[in-house]
Amino acid sequence: MKSTISYFLIVLIFPLQCSSYLSSLKMGSSLSVEKHEEDVIVSPDGTFSAGFIQIGENAFSFGIWFTELPDSHNSATVVWMANREQPVNGKRSKLSLLKTGNIILLDAGQYNTWSSNTESNVPLELHLKENGNLVLLELQATTILWQSFDFPTNTLLPNQPLTRYTKLVSSRSHSNHSSGFYKLFFDDNNVIRLDYDGPDVSSTYWPPPWLLSWEAGRFNYNSSRIAFLDPLGQLFSSDNYYFFTLDYGMTIQRRLTMDFDGNIRVYSRKNMSQNWYVSYQAILNTCIIHGICGANSTCSYDPKKGKKCSCIPGYKVNNSSDWSYGCEPMLDFTCNNKNESTFLKMQGVEFYGYDKYYYVNNSYKYCETLCLQDCSCKGFQYAEDMDNGVSKCYTKSQLLNGRHSPSFQGITYLRLPKDNNYSKHQSMNVNDHVCFVQLHKDYVKKQENPTVRFFLWLSITIAGLESVCVLVVCVLLIKTSKKSSTAQQQNYHHVALFGFRKFSYLELKKATKNFSEEIGRGGGGVVYKGLLSDQRHVAIKKLHNHNAKQGEGEFLAEIAIIGRLNHMNLIEMLGYCVEGNHRLLVYEYMENGSLAKNLLSNANRLNWCKRYAIALGTARVLAYLHEECLEWILHCDIKPQNILLDSNLHPKLADFGLSKLINRNNLNNDLGFSMIRGTRGYMAPEWVFNLPITSKVDVYSYGIVVLEMITGKSPTMMMNMEGDHDGEVAHNERMVTWVREKKRSTCNWVEEIVDPTMGNDYDASKMEILAIVALDCLEEDRDIRPTMSQVVKMIESHEIDV
Ligand SMILES: *[C@@H]1O[C@H](CO)[C@@H](O)[C@H](O)[C@H]1NC(C)=O
Ligand SMILES: *[C@@H]1O[C@H](CO)[C@@H](O)[C@H](O)[C@H]1NC(C)=O
Ligand SMILES: *[C@@H]1O[C@H](CO)[C@@H](O)[C@H](O)[C@H]1NC(C)=O
Ligand SMILES: *[C@@H]1O[C@H](CO)[C@@H](O)[C@H](O)[C@H]1NC(C)=O
Ligand SMILES: *[C@@H]1O[C@H](CO)[C@@H](O)[C@H](O)[C@H]1NC(C)=O
Ligand SMILES: *[C@@H]1O[C@H](CO)[C@@H](O)[C@H](O)[C@H]1NC(C)=O
Ligand SMILES: *[C@@H]1O[C@H](CO)[C@@H](O)[C@H](O)[C@H]1NC(C)=O
Ligand SMILES: *[C@@H]1O[C@H](CO)[C@@H](O)[C@H](O)[C@H]1NC(C)=O
Ligand SMILES: *[C@@H]1O[C@H](CO)[C@@H](O)[C@H](O)[C@H]1NC(C)=O
Repeated sequence: MKSTISYFLIVLIFPLQCSSYLSSLKMGSSLSVEKHEEDVIVSPDGTFSAGFIQIGENAFSFGIWFTELPDSHNSATVVWMANREQPVNGKRSKLSLLKTGNIILLDAGQYNTWSSNTESNVPLELHLKENGNLVLLELQATTILWQSFDFPTNTLLPNQPLTRYTKLVSSRSHSNHSSGFYKLFFDDNNVIRLDYDGPDVSSTYWPPPWLLSWEAGRFNYNSSRIAFLDPLGQLFSSDNYYFFTLDYGMTIQRRLTMDFDGNIRVYSRKNMSQNWYVSYQAILNTCIIHGICGANSTCSYDPKKGKKCSCIPGYKVNNSSDWSYGCEPMLDFTCNNKNESTFLKMQGVEFYGYDKYYYVNNSYKYCETLCLQDCSCKGFQYAEDMDNGVSKCYTKSQLLNGRHSPSFQGITYLRLPKDNNYSKHQSMNVNDHVCFVQLHKDYVKKQENPTVRFFLWLSITIAGLESVCVLVVCVLLIKTSKKSSTAQQQNYHHVALFGFRKFSYLELKKATKNFSEEIGRGGGGVVYKGLLSDQRHVAIKKLHNHNAKQGEGEFLAEIAIIGRLNHMNLIEMLGYCVEGNHRLLVYEYMENGSLAKNLLSNANRLNWCKRYAIALGTARVLAYLHEECLEWILHCDIKPQNILLDSNLHPKLADFGLSKLINRNNLNNDLGFSMIRGTRGYMAPEWVFNLPITSKVDVYSYGIVVLEMITGKSPTMMMNMEGDHDGEVAHNERMVTWVREKKRSTCNWVEEIVDPTMGNDYDASKMEILAIVALDCLEEDRDIRPTMSQVVKMIESHEIDV
């Protein structure tokens, strides 16, 4: 119904205002560049136009674009170009459909710049179809001789296939439409991939080159090599890559574009009077895109500002308006005496590729000497893998694809001439984490154009997550690969096959037998057990008090972000439902219930070893949320009820990301986190004293949870035991003070605090480590508390065979 209405509107607008537009080009006629404003072929529904596009002063290309309103000041969104590399003159250039059946583009009336290379002796016509395909039709047989869909430039329109014969090539820049450095195509293994093809080097960056294709969730046995975006917003590819756009399900204008920054995005808009927004982005952390910052530079990612390029010390930018030119050395790097070099330590910085030598099990000194002896060595990467007792040394002949990565474990040592001014600063400060709360407020203030801003923000925010997150999962998986290869396969699957489902309310109502079996409460909703039609058990959370004013799009966008988080210690979100005022989330179901329940009724199953592993797993996932995902996700409600246990009693954190969804309701007062969140007994003092909320609130709650696991006593129980209720902080403090007191006054303090249900069967030194870590986390001053990754390190350094 809606689409018929807009169809009429457009049909009405066009004949009135643009009566000279053409519906097709007949044999023997031409479109002329001088009349580029009228000589336009328009698709029957008015969505697309084809004609000459001015791309510079006196420079035109023939192409297809989304029709804009007549008074629009937007530059047209070009979806195809015949002559992107070779623009034609603004005088006497024309596109002609010759009597021979060939379409030719003449530059300045003489040079043939482009042609369709077709031939026919039956009547032909050039038509622009409603889907944006420009076709050369044999009128009688209606066979297609030539079509623009077979020669894509940087854009795929819905239902336009990407095949073994076609590829998308990015533009050079926002304003320069000639071919740029990035390509999307099917490779020889039938896998759809992204390559950087720069002036000097080329490399694949997606799917991640260090994964085998099956590890990235791709099939390489299907040789049909076809991919397309359907009009509803789902992409299918024969290699099993697929995704849903955030606005999946709507029939609106869409395009998939290989952008000049090396990312694939799907853009959507309702109609020509609206703005485009990003509804899907393939690569979330844009720093993994090769060549993005050029040579001799590093890319760092910030959820507020997106990526940022900087030259490495001793280098300066070549062209600050186009980072792909990279940075050139400022210092004298001539190398004739090996004593003239020194190395600058860059923690957490990785330069992907271009390794000249690779050595295992050699000392740092050996690696350094190796680099000093080689004049082409620009630096080296050295890492000691504690788990396997192996060290790795890579010497670098070029410094390309540099990026800051909190999950990268090695260190890059940059070669610099001695007597430079940089090494004094010692290591570079990798990143001061940005707090999610600030991001939130920023977003609230700027509401002039909520949708666009939102999606811009979203695309930037999403960018922070995936690749980093994927990377982490990979690192984790690679680490544990020897232990469990099936688990590994499954996890890869999760990472790669992102695409949770939209459920209907009815479906979920049926799955939960009309919301009859309640299994939990809190975090803004009630959780029910459900059984999906595919016989999978799920946990379905029904958010209550939902403000109907919250836009569906915003809800979906946040769900999409949460849905993309992936960690072995995170509950997996399988889908969602948005209908009217109903907002539901569908999660995997954990047979063993929560840590709280197990501590209460099953404490003997939780031996010291399991408790240790739960503490470690929980710390890891919090470190992932805070640091890998750049701290924009604080949990804010860490407690044993939110740590679920899988069949092996491995922890999985639940209810993450909801602080945003739920808090949205009281955003209007611009206070964000004004309302105290969290649960009595687990809350950090900041909440009470109204101090800025940072990730350290989660660290504090984590400390309480660990103490609870060690002692078997819950902080709320402690409160009841002593029988008074003097404020939030008091109950936490009671437990903490009790433990601190024991530690100070007794030598075998650990023995006195451990949960009696563990008996004598525990490793006292491990329990002591946990207790010490917990007390560190419970420091009153949040600046003294460790970060979650420091907690992980502290626990891991004592891990032997858990
Ligand atoms: C475009 O969509 C907006 C919002 O849905 C609507 O108000 C407007 O009338 C539409 N314009 C056209 C030309 O269809
Ligand atoms: C566009 O980029 C190409 C390739 O880098 C370059 O040759 C050309 O001069 C650029 N055109 C404009 C108008 O800047
Ligand atoms: C290969 O992919 C095509 C397109 O997605 C699909 O139709 C076909 O069934 C697939 N073949 C196999 C063997 O999976
Ligand atoms: C960087 O700039 C220098 C000098 O301006 C130039 O010689 C060099 O070719 C440039 N490098 C690249 C990759 O453009
Ligand atoms: C830097 O790049 C911009 C954009 O590509 C270009 O217009 C400009 O001429 C370049 N400047 C130099 C000094 O190369
Ligand atoms: C990067 O630095 C190396 C020297 O370390 C230099 O040879 C190379 O030309 C630089 N690249 C660019 C693009 O300036
Ligand atoms: C480098 O310095 C060391 C000690 O400072 C000296 O023994 C060695 O001879 C020097 N090597 C060269 C090549 O100058
Ligand atoms: C490196 O050393 C470790 C432990 O000493 C050993 O297990 C491993 O096999 C060695 N690796 C190689 C490639 O020599
Ligand atoms: C180091 O800094 C000082 C003063 O800031 C300057 O005079 C000197 O030239 C610099 N040296 C190098 C190698 O850049």
